[in-house]
Amino acid sequence: MQDLQSILEQCWLKLTLASQTPGAAWRTPVLATVSAQQPRQRTVVLRRVDRAAGSLWLHTDLRSAKIQHLEQQPAVSLLFYDAAAETQLQVRGRAVVHTAGAVWQQLWESSPESSLRMYLAPQPPGIHCSEPSPNLPEQFVGRLPNRGDLAAGLNNFAAVEIQAERLEWLQLSREGHRRAEFAVGAGTLQHATWLEP
Ligand SMILES: Cc1cc2nc3c(=O)[nH]c(=O)nc-3n(C[C@H](O)[C@H](O)[C@H](O)COP(=O)(O)O)c2cc1C
Repeated sequence: MQDLQSILEQCWLKLTLASQTPGAAWRTPVLATVSAQQPRQRTVVLRRVDRAAGSLWLHTDLRSAKIQHLEQQPAVSLLFYDAAAETQLQVRGRAVVHTAGAVWQQLWESSPESSLRMYLAPQPPGIHCSEPSPNLPEQFVGRLPNRGDLAAGLNNFAAVEIQAERLEWLQLSREGHRRAEFAVGAGTLQHATWLEP
């Protein structure tokens, strides 16, 4: 059990570091949602980890399709892969969309202008267009807005909290692969087990 517990702690530590480190292996997980019984996936940036609460945070456009998916079905999966360490982590849980609150505000204030510029998009992301379009106000194509300019995008800014319920870890190794599963609730370990890889 001790071994399993330390693997779980290492996962949380690695996730926390990834949320603070552009370029880290687990920085850009794939978020899977379900819409009309069909799976949908997309890459996102892990922006914040709250180890005590057992939650992972990202941000997105309130007008994006994934927000509609989450409103219909909040069950999600986040998939992380570290190619150098040959380690995969699947986090399953429930998503809560925030458009106000302390963490929402903190994410807005701490994100660089380059990460917030897309919230100025005049059109909802994902709608059809007749030719390739950056979907940005003309003055911000090829130029970053300043903080004052960005305020117009606040209405489109949503923070998504993923409350982890199950973590499944897999590490490939010549000595033998190892795979484990953890059930967690509000950040507390409820059950841990090895799985056959
Ligand atoms: C490296 C990378 C990072 C991305 N990060 C985000 C992100 O943090 N938030 C986001 O909403 N979309 C992000 N995207 C874009 C999404 O993958 C996706 O195209 C977009 O959110 C629209 O998804 P949807 O139509 O399923 O809602 C990222 C894409 C890439 C390639």
